[in-house]
Amino acid sequence: MTKDTLSITDNRTGKIYEVPIKNGTINAIDIRQIKTGAEDFGLMSYDPAYTNTASCTSRITFIDGDVGILNYRGYPIEQLAEQSNHLETTYLLLNGDLPTRPQYEAFTSDITHHTMVHENIKELIDAFRYDAHPMGMVMSVVAALSTFYPESKKVRDKDTRRKQIHRLIAKVPTIAAYAFRHRTGLHYVLPDNELSYCGNFLNMMFKRTEGTFKVNPVLEKALEVLFILHADHEQNCSSTAMRTVGSAESDPYSSMAAAIGALYGPLHGGANEAVLRMLNEIGHKNNVAKFVNEVKSSGGDVRLMGFGHRVYKNFDPRAKIIKKMADQVFEVTGHNPLLEIAVELERIALEDDYFIKRKLYPNVDFYSGIIYQAMGFPVDMFPVLFAIPRTAGWLAQWDEMVEDVKEQKIARPRQVYLGAGKRDYTVMSKRA
Ligand code: CMC
Repeated sequence: MTKDTLSITDNRTGKIYEVPIKNGTINAIDIRQIKTGAEDFGLMSYDPAYTNTASCTSRITFIDGDVGILNYRGYPIEQLAEQSNHLETTYLLLNGDLPTRPQYEAFTSDITHHTMVHENIKELIDAFRYDAHPMGMVMSVVAALSTFYPESKKVRDKDTRRKQIHRLIAKVPTIAAYAFRHRTGLHYVLPDNELSYCGNFLNMMFKRTEGTFKVNPVLEKALEVLFILHADHEQNCSSTAMRTVGSAESDPYSSMAAAIGALYGPLHGGANEAVLRMLNEIGHKNNVAKFVNEVKSSGGDVRLMGFGHRVYKNFDPRAKIIKKMADQVFEVTGHNPLLEIAVELERIALEDDYFIKRKLYPNVDFYSGIIYQAMGFPVDMFPVLFAIPRTAGWLAQWDEMVEDVKEQKIARPRQVYLGAGKRDYTVMSKRA
């Protein structure tokens, strides 16, 4: 007879335990009963990088990394990239279903009417040094928004949550564009309500002296696709930061600032910036083989940025879509010479035993930077271009976590203490 349980024999005591299996998992607290005696705290699982630990149940994003599947609320990423736009996908992530026409129009109108920021935000951005990294500025300004909207502390109130979610989705592109303009010494451009989400962002970034900024439809569509691809990725490092900080019932602005901090790292959303710097350093496609050898012989110190993923072990479906899209963008912007180096790097790496054995494939960041650069974005804006669309995912994850009152509580992992045992304080003169 089969049962949905797991039997565990503790060889230290000979005792047998039976714990339930639900949704392919055992509950970690069920193994606490496994003890060698009354004084024993009980068995714990040890998983420092959460490599095999589910921290929540979720109904937002599904990934099957072995076959390269990514679905938002059940919809394949390929279909969304081809047929949807970023705001519709954002609605889907937040609400669970695609919107009807009236729902879509109401949502778009609400987001469009929250794109402006308080004038004090400009002063805040002005206070940064002329060469401040835009991701640092965006992270700080998002944290500062909690002081503009103190009611956001009421995280248990659904309507209040909804309002902050809409504010963040609307205002993050404005803040991002202002951070860029501060760095370049250009005046801040007010949002234009006549434009789409991505069209307006391009307007706030690149408008100069012209009366009306003309958005190139190919670049606008490319940005929509890139934003859709980056909108969510289930329990990655930054979503986990968002959920962890949010679990303390911190307001969403403070929680999202933490998520932006996590995304900033070169192993996460900072990888697109690192890829560009790596390609520039390689300099020519003839130098690629030498660089690959350097990676292999470095013992893990030098990484091929834009390669490898914790979950995808076959291919990253987002990278495939981006690579296909590159040609359309280059037809408008002209060729990016770094593409040749990237293609050669991919070719050599995919034929190399080191990468094959470790199942390392190009990820979303490998080609996105080359496209962003061709579109006119400076390299240090790349992580910000990841953060804008990921705002949707972070907030969907946060909202789901707050709603899950049955299972979620303040995040608080355990540790395995291996430090000194109890010892007495010695005065400084008697220390060795
Ligand atoms: N270049 C060279 N070797 C690598 C790379 C790489 N990019 N990625 C992993 N490895 C090696 C690593 O040295 C290790 O080798 P060994 O078994 O000999 O020690 C093995 O592959 C497994 O690596 P890991 O670090 O245990 O894998 P992980 O799942 O902890 O890390 C990762 C995943 C994405 C952090 C890592 O692959 C990496 O650092 N990639 C480069 C940074 C990057 O492109 N990040 C963007 C990720 S996609 C966007 C996002 O969602 O953030």
